[in-house]
Amino acid sequence: MHILVTGGAGYIGSHTCILLIEAGYDVIVFDNFSNASKESIKRVEKIVGKEIILIEGDIRNRNDLHSVFNSYKIDAVIHFAGLKAVGESVAEPLKYYDNNIYGTIVLCEIMAEHNCRSIVFSSSATVYGDPHTTPIKEHFPLSTTNPYGRSKLFIEEMLRDLYISDNTWKIVLLRYFNPVGAHASGTIGEDPHGIPNNLMPFIAQTAVGKREYLNVLGNDYNTHDGTGVRDYIHVMDLADGHVKALNKINSFNEVMTINLGTGNGYSVLDMVKAFEKASGKKVPYQIAPRRAGDIAKCFADPTYAKEVLDWEATRSINEMCEDSWKWQSNNPNGYKEEK
Ligand code: NAD
Ligand code: UD1
Repeated sequence: MHILVTGGAGYIGSHTCILLIEAGYDVIVFDNFSNASKESIKRVEKIVGKEIILIEGDIRNRNDLHSVFNSYKIDAVIHFAGLKAVGESVAEPLKYYDNNIYGTIVLCEIMAEHNCRSIVFSSSATVYGDPHTTPIKEHFPLSTTNPYGRSKLFIEEMLRDLYISDNTWKIVLLRYFNPVGAHASGTIGEDPHGIPNNLMPFIAQTAVGKREYLNVLGNDYNTHDGTGVRDYIHVMDLADGHVKALNKINSFNEVMTINLGTGNGYSVLDMVKAFEKASGKKVPYQIAPRRAGDIAKCFADPTYAKEVLDWEATRSINEMCEDSWKWQSNNPNGYKEEK
């Protein structure tokens, strides 16, 4: 079975490619490299001991997509391609609507033209906005506070409408909580450009000495230690969720919306402590004001994923920190070193 992985050279995509190949799928990576490097796929090839078909192209470009679908009989698409920086989306909303929403429209049109109607889409827990309670279940009300989040929510709605119009589509919407960690080899991982916005890469860069200290963004939230609580999930567990979704996609007779989280909430200070323990390094921090738009607590109820995908996260917070440290300490400059 040929699986087209849009955004397959990126953080979650590259990790997912490993498990897809190990599960026997033929993978075609399609990426415009706007936020990735070809080096990630070279390293995936080393891990799996196999060459990967890598196509440089943009999901907004019909010719790029037609040429892939003309060259290979694609059975399903895992659609990771998208822009994901919340702050940038506020500053440049049209860029996000164009890339994420328009890109997905073009992708689905071309898929249908080539008779491929199976898609697994990367959504986000951001679509729950500020949840009224935790753990979060899939039927909770949806709301968003920024263009990035709205692009995810619109795409979810668009895909639901597509299914209503033609129920031969097989659609799985996976709502990720907070992906962290790296492949256990320490050779691939998250490689953010510039100053990381997200907690885990910031902690890792502080531990390796690239940043002086971490700003803990608020310590007056209603949580066990006052700092924000999130559901951190190991990227390999997340990757496994995609393989399980793909394995079952043909058995679904509705649009499936599924949380991928662990069900555990850890605070910023819990993560700092866990990282110090896993790395043996100090992570200096100072308390700073809250970040606009941040919420106190966000963690999943993952029982539906267990029920319908037979999937659950198995990796501990310690493994998340150890693997993240392995990647960061072996590759302090990400993929850039070998360019
Ligand atoms: P990433 O930036 O590492 O990967 C996205 C990939 O898509 C990159 O390789 C980029 O070059 C590619 N891309 C972007 N626009 C493209 C286009 N128009 N055509 C072709 N390729 C394009 O991000 P990631 O963390 O791996 O996230 C993957 C997906 O999961 C994204 O859709 C993201 O919004 C979603 N998601 C991520 C998180 C997270 O915390 N990382 C959380 C929830 C959802
Ligand atoms: C952020 C995005 C969300 C996106 C998710 C995954 C915002 C408002 N939300 O979520 O839309 O889906 O990333 O990419 O940007 N923190 C610090 N210091 C830091 C960075 C973060 O204390 O330098 C804290 C935050 O206040 C939060 C926790 O760490 O409590 C996690 O932050 P982050 O990794 O950015 O993820 P989210 O805020 O959950």
